[in-house]
Amino acid sequence: MKIPYVNLKKQYLSEKKDLNKIFNDVLLTGNYVGGEHVKKFEKNINNFCKTKYCVSLNSGTDALTLALHLLGVRKGDEVITTPNSFIASTSVIVHLGAKPVFVDVLDDQNINPDLIEKKISKKTKVIMPVHLTGRMCKMEKIVQIANKYNLKIVEDAAQAIGSKYNGMMSGSIGDVGCFSAHPLKNLNAIGDSGYLTTNSKRIYDLAKDLRNHGMTNRDRIKNFGYVSRMDNLQAAILNYRLSKLKNIINSRRRNYKIYKKYLTRENIFFPDEKKNEFNTYHTFVIQVKNRDKLRKYLNLKGIGTSIHYPIPIHLQPAAKKLGYKKGDFIKTEFQSKRILTLPINQHLKEKEIIYISESINNFFK
Ligand SMILES: Cc1ncc(COP(=O)(O)O)c(C=O)c1O
Repeated sequence: MKIPYVNLKKQYLSEKKDLNKIFNDVLLTGNYVGGEHVKKFEKNINNFCKTKYCVSLNSGTDALTLALHLLGVRKGDEVITTPNSFIASTSVIVHLGAKPVFVDVLDDQNINPDLIEKKISKKTKVIMPVHLTGRMCKMEKIVQIANKYNLKIVEDAAQAIGSKYNGMMSGSIGDVGCFSAHPLKNLNAIGDSGYLTTNSKRIYDLAKDLRNHGMTNRDRIKNFGYVSRMDNLQAAILNYRLSKLKNIINSRRRNYKIYKKYLTRENIFFPDEKKNEFNTYHTFVIQVKNRDKLRKYLNLKGIGTSIHYPIPIHLQPAAKKLGYKKGDFIKTEFQSKRILTLPINQHLKEKEIIYISESINNFFK
């Protein structure tokens, strides 16, 4: 059997007729930057995320940058986040001249809320929990801490569209929710795209201007801005795919249940989904001894895997100047040697997941 880690070609082939009609329709409008589909997408996301405002952008990275900037993060400020995310969660903080203050994680790879308070200083402006793998962080406690110290929350929900915690949608709890629609995400464009959600009219108005050179209208520029607009074509594709997102999430949740049934837990750890969680399985990560050997073994069996992420951010060469060292975040470092991401996409068949599970069980036998 050959099982690739992701299968974007299969996604395209299953949508070919509809997508080709969308390409044709959008190209015929002559509106390529901004346009009707962009407006519709923002409305659709508000309905889906249960938020008041959405600003479509060109990436999740830009969503994070604008969110932090508009919440007042400036040179010398501190932002609390985790060292085990995709690099963009930290680079946006650095680019604003602020300092990423890392907090270690729980067994489920998300920020440990019990370690946040002692990292708060006079310079702290924002807490940025990252909802890694499509599982939301323990937001109740994080909101309590933010309220106590008068801090803002930016949810890095790049991997978590549709995820819930205590029934609340990702991106609807913090001051701003930031999402990526990169091709590998559950709601994916055919290139780079992203969006932010907020209930603040101020942030909405400013983000809308800043994404478009700071233009309040064609001739008036109130602030120096950026170019971070979502294309009309990407928005049209995202509207189409958003209508299928619930099915995609259900397939991924079903796939998790199949893994849970067939994987022998003796040598394999993965966190169970808790009652107050609704996880969307952007990724499915197991934690094992001999991870690299297992990965090679699976590769020989035709099974594609990935690692999110093999080098924690505080140990990346780019992070040298931040002053962290090996041993600072024990759990993150421990996990980085054991984590392995298995295929969980919506195109997988039950027999393929059983084959992957049995191959892993056999490896440990
Ligand atoms: C946790 C996390 N944050 C931020 C980003 C950045 O999103 P984008 O690639 O759309 O800029 C990603 C994307 O991979 C991500 O996974």
